[in-house]
Parts: sequence; structure tokens; C-alpha cells
Amino acid sequence: MLPEELRTALDKTLSGYSPQELSDSVARLTERYRTNAATGGGTHIRSRADVAAYAAYRMPATYAAAATAMRQAAAMTPGFRPGSHLDVGGGTGAAIWAAGETWPSIERVTVIEHDPQIIDLGKRLARTSEALRAATWRQASVRPGLDRPAADLVTMSYALGELPQDKRREIVRWLAADAAMVIVIEPGTPAGYATVAEAREVLVAQGLSVAAPCPHDGRCPIEQGRDWCHFSVRLPRTSLHRRIKAGTLSFEDEKFSYVAATAVPGERAGARILRHPVKRKGVVSLRLCAGQEGIRDVIVSKRQGDLYRAARDADWGDGWGDDGLRLDHGNGEGGGSGSAGGSSLEDVDD
Ligand SMILES: C[S@@+](CC[C@H](N)C(=O)[O-])C[C@H]1O[C@@H](n2cnc3c(N)ncnc32)[C@H](O)[C@@H]1O
Repeated sequence: MLPEELRTALDKTLSGYSPQELSDSVARLTERYRTNAATGGGTHIRSRADVAAYAAYRMPATYAAAATAMRQAAAMTPGFRPGSHLDVGGGTGAAIWAAGETWPSIERVTVIEHDPQIIDLGKRLARTSEALRAATWRQASVRPGLDRPAADLVTMSYALGELPQDKRREIVRWLAADAAMVIVIEPGTPAGYATVAEAREVLVAQGLSVAAPCPHDGRCPIEQGRDWCHFSVRLPRTSLHRRIKAGTLSFEDEKFSYVAATAVPGERAGARILRHPVKRKGVVSLRLCAGQEGIRDVIVSKRQGDLYRAARDADWGDGWGDDGLRLDHGNGEGGGSGSAGGSSLEDVDD
């Protein structure tokens, strides 16, 4: 759910456009994103109406993805109190709003964005927030070596994949310089996951440790080309949103991939839940990434008391404790274990 001030400011901006104008822009944007996943120049958003359309139909979703990734990263690093945030390819500011909600300690915010029209809207929205009013919006095209302020938290949300493939590794190294935490978020598609996986490799090589989603810094056990690591967040759609997207549902599920890497000592989930838990009468099936132990399917039964209650309340994307993992090693009590791809998870809703 967007913060109240942001929702109000967005509604005000969007009231300056007809639904038809916005929906034509949405159709054009969707087509550009579909046919040209990486333009090498971020030229998908081309007019003022495109900027407003982007903010109307994508900002709530990218905000929700960023907020979810940040919440998971914060859960693993309770001692992290960033004072400064740099957001790269910041668009209309979804990630700075999400970071402000997750870490109220942030006092200095800088956004780097190359499009002046996008900056203009991002600034107008941010002015409505006490915490973001003083943010610095810097118009620049991201490239390795670009002068940038030091920041505790550095984020790049739905933007790394728009940069030329052969520059991404260098850009990620540039993001990591002096940062206590770097978060990269991309669409939850095979291509988005590949971009995140490459960023993760660079961040770990830079000496950072993965706070979320991975429970380890080693090789990702997901085989690229066969599956991809991604998560999902459900968000409400406004009536304008439904009109411009020609959708009827009152919600949408945003799929995203992400990595949060940090220099801050923290905790580590024993495992990460990789799909919607499948809940049936008296049993919950979980697909877990257990790091070096690979992908595991576990079944938790009602007889397992607290563990069962934890599994019943768990969501796709949550960390899962070591206790849960013990199940998979077959302690003979209750639920037992399954293997990846086993029939217990056939009805996983992805
Ligand atoms: C898909 S939008 C994401 C915006 C925002 N981060 C979010 O999560 O909603 C990608 C943004 O990256 C910007 N961008 C693309 N290439 C860029 C570059 N080389 N330098 C700076 N910004 C860039 C685009 O203008 C656009 O605002």
C-alpha cells in the first residue's frame, strides 16, 4: 500500500490527464518494454503523459516490490540504521519512498535519474513528504565512474536491466563503493533474475554478504534457464488503475527478483521460501532455498505444533529458520520430507 501522502499526490497529478490519454500511454509503454527489454538508454518513457502513465500504473507496483525487498533485508540486519540513501535510475522515486518507510533513520537522499520530465514529477511527489522534501535530484546518465555521493544505502530498482549488458558489472561495482548495503531489484522474469544473479556475483566478489533473499553467499542452486528466483507481492489497484490497464481485478501481483548485499553484520535466514506455501488440511508444503544444501521441499504437519503454526503463517519470500530445515533431514517425526519436484508441491500456485 502506498504511503498516504504519495497516494494523494499521485491522484492529484493524474487528475490532469484523461483516462484515455493515460491508457494510450500505458499501451505504448507496455509495447516498448515488451519489444525492447534493454534499450541501452532508458528511452521507454518519452512524453509527459508517459511519465504520468508510468507513475500511475507502475509506481505502486515498483514501490511494493522495493518495500518488500527492503523489509526482508532489514529483518536480517536489525542493527542497520542508514543515515543516507542513494537511488540510481530512480524514476519517480518509488524506492526512496519505500526506503523512508523501512528505515526512518535516513536523512540524506540523492536520486540519480537521466530524464528531466521524470525528475520533475518525482520531485513534485517527494515535496509532499516531510522526510523526502529535501532530497537531491541529480540529472545524469549513469555510467561507471560517475561522480556520486557516498551513501549507507544504495539502491537500483527496475533500472539495471535498462542499461547495456556489457556495462552492468562495472555499474554494480560502482554502486557498491563504500555502501553498507546495496539492493538491486528487477522484474521477476528469467531476464530480471539473470540480471540480479549477475549483480549478486559482483557484490559478493566486492566482499559484501547477501542479507536477502539468499541464505548464503555461494553459488545459486537455481539452474538458469530451468527456473528463476523471484517473489511476489499483492497490491490493491485503484479504479483509475483498473481503467487505464483495462483490468477488472481489484488487486495485482507484482513479481520481482532482488538481492540485498551488505557489509553490516547481521543474521541469516536458515532458508528462504521460494513459492506460495501450499496449505492443505493439517499440512503445509514449503519449497525452500537452503543455500548450499540446494532446493528442498518440506512438509510440515499439524502434529509439529509451533512449527506447523509458523508454516501456516508463512508467505512466499519469508525467511525460514533452521528448525524447519531439520525436518528435511528426516527426524522421523510427523510430516517428513519430500524432494524437489515431488508430488507434494504439484499444486503450487506460481
Ligand atoms: C523502469 S524505470 C524504474 C524507476 C524506479 N527506479 C522505480 O523502481 O519505479 C527505469 C528508470 O531508469 C532510468 N534510466 C534508464 N537508464 C538510465 C541511465 N543510463 N541513467 C540514469 N537513469 C536511467 C529511466 O529514465 C527510468 O526512470
